Amino acid sequence: MALSITMLLLIVAALATAKNSLHPLSDEFISLINSKQSTWKAGRNFPLDTSLTYIKGLMGLLKSSSVSKLPVQIHEDGLIANLPENFDSREKWPSCPSLNEIRDQGSCGSCWAMGATEVMTDRVCIYSNGTKHFEFSAQDLTSCDGRNGCDGGDLDYAWLYWKQAGIVSGGPYNSSQGCRPYEIPPCEHHVDGNRPKCNESSETPKCVRKCRAGYNVEYKRDKHYAKIVYKVRGEDQIKAELYKNGPVETSFVVYDDFVNYKSGVYSHTTGEWLGDHAIKILGWGVENGKKYWLCANSWNSDWGDKGFFKTLRGENHCDIESEALTGEPDLSGH
Ligand SMILES: *[C@@H]1O[C@H](CO)[C@@H](O)[C@H](O)[C@H]1NC(C)=O
Ligand SMILES: *[C@@H]1O[C@H](CO)[C@@H](O)[C@H](O)[C@H]1NC(C)=O
Ligand SMILES: *[C@@H]1O[C@H](CO)[C@@H](O)[C@H](O)[C@H]1NC(C)=O
Repeated sequence: MALSITMLLLIVAALATAKNSLHPLSDEFISLINSKQSTWKAGRNFPLDTSLTYIKGLMGLLKSSSVSKLPVQIHEDGLIANLPENFDSREKWPSCPSLNEIRDQGSCGSCWAMGATEVMTDRVCIYSNGTKHFEFSAQDLTSCDGRNGCDGGDLDYAWLYWKQAGIVSGGPYNSSQGCRPYEIPPCEHHVDGNRPKCNESSETPKCVRKCRAGYNVEYKRDKHYAKIVYKVRGEDQIKAELYKNGPVETSFVVYDDFVNYKSGVYSHTTGEWLGDHAIKILGWGVENGKKYWLCANSWNSDWGDKGFFKTLRGENHCDIESEALTGEPDLSGH
């Protein structure tokens, strides 16, 4: 008898908890975020009927289980002491248009490859003083780096792959740009659009070591490599790296509230853990007294603030400052 009353109480408690946890895409959840704080605005980025399996699948970061395989770069105190309060790499390198671009991973956990190839593309332009433009193929990296794929990727392996195997060129889906354009279509994860509905997940497309028909360079000859790949750690080192050499890729922990980000400086407010995600950082600043990182997401330009977002800086919030990855391109081509 005593046991069954305990059981009953447990069931009632469980039901109450279930009732209190709001659906992460519901209007109630979005209102709750906006009622709890005023540094960032939540709104609708995804239709209510979007599959949560699909959303979780976008967070494709696999945490490196082994010890770090990349060297850590340390910038001088003199450089760090003289950094400005605000910095936007789009203003420092206006002749590098890729800094303005936002990619779309489609129904594939390729955020790790998107962030990496965005940074590589920016850096070929930056290191060549705006004279060389080479759009690195997220498809080539997603499919051919044998350890990673649409189920997710380890950033160390992605960056080492650039140095060891090289990556060919390739634009967005259907773009006929470069050797291997992206093969997974953008899908309608957003409101009021006319793209096809998102699949729950995609198989990793096969690694094809051949450029598309009509592209006049041989696959092997199209590969571009890194001279060095490395990491920077912590707020000051990431700032120094951005200022001196350009964008970096980093990862952070995503909670339910982040998917509804629209503007302002994000900090985790409410909701459950959704996954680990990789993105590009391209600047920093201070808005209404809040220090932020300026970041590019890869969920199309109709997500968030035209595809970009700002997130809290200086507190290793959601683990964003633990480790950023980047490298120096080999401009000789091969
Ligand atoms: C870019 O400009 C810097 C500074 O003027 C120069 O040292 C460097 O050699 C240039 N790099 C290329 C690839 O032109
Ligand atoms: C891709 O291109 C084909 C042929 O031009 C077109 O039929 C199709 O609608 C395009 N798909 C997307 C998602 O743009
Ligand atoms: C969904 O999956 C099918 C079958 O694999 C594929 O043909 C289609 O392009 C996918 N659609 C999207 C939007 O990813």
